[in-house]
Amino acid sequence: MRVAIQDFQHLRDQGERFVLVTAYDYTSAQLADRAGIPALLVGDSLGTVVQGHDTTIPVTLDDVVYHCRMVVRGSSKAMVIGDLPFMTYPDAEHGLASAGRLFQEGRVQAVKLEGGGRMVEVVQAIVDHGIPVMGHLGYTPQSVHRFGKQIVRGKTLEQARLLLNEARRLEDAGAFSIVLECVPSALAGLITRSLHIPTIGIGSGPETDGQVQVWHDLLGLYTDFVPRHAKPYAHLAETIVAALESYSTEVREGVFPTERHASAMPEEALRMLRESELFRTA
Ligand code: KIV
Repeated sequence: MRVAIQDFQHLRDQGERFVLVTAYDYTSAQLADRAGIPALLVGDSLGTVVQGHDTTIPVTLDDVVYHCRMVVRGSSKAMVIGDLPFMTYPDAEHGLASAGRLFQEGRVQAVKLEGGGRMVEVVQAIVDHGIPVMGHLGYTPQSVHRFGKQIVRGKTLEQARLLLNEARRLEDAGAFSIVLECVPSALAGLITRSLHIPTIGIGSGPETDGQVQVWHDLLGLYTDFVPRHAKPYAHLAETIVAALESYSTEVREGVFPTERHASAMPEEALRMLRESELFRTA
């Protein structure tokens, strides 16, 4: 049985913290499952760390469906959450259709979407159809061109009030949890304490119920840019480059491959092959 939304609510009610990590493929999902990570987010961050774009804007629903299927195949315990990409939920009707595709074709157990305001009715429509929704407030990368360099959201009284209000409205609309991205710690704590559902922080300090990090940041795989809020728990980019350099050196020097990495031919067949016309012409 996979982790369910009720398990996160239970952890929150018990005052226990939990973690999520993004995942985009079968092998990563297998490793995260082995590590006991309870939820995997197939984030549209795949647009930057997997596809190499500057932003998440070019990511399509087909892309997310494709990656969700791999992550679902690689995991058996974690809840898998699929991210709705830019412009796939402009209103309740389209949002529901997109969430339905992630659910049916991507085989996920929940979807995530960015924003409050008009998104509240989109959340409600999706939840009404039995699909759990995770909200996402604060810095929402799909609005990169609106926010510009203003990454931290909620620093002013007006912004903070708006965020708190939107969080409450998302909860009322039926969201089962809310990601708070790049919100000042104190505000993230206030929002967390004023909701009943769990909050999940990224770049929002230690007062949220859960924490989510991007796979490539967490493991030191993406070197174009390391966000301030990321803590690399490994430096896999260096490990991989060193391994590839060793591989190149060994092939060039004839150290790899050896007979151990190939299969032998029966002596008799080899003798006959050598004596055959075919071998002589070759
Ligand atoms: O796309 C993503 O990976 C996300 C997380 C960073 C929350 O939205």
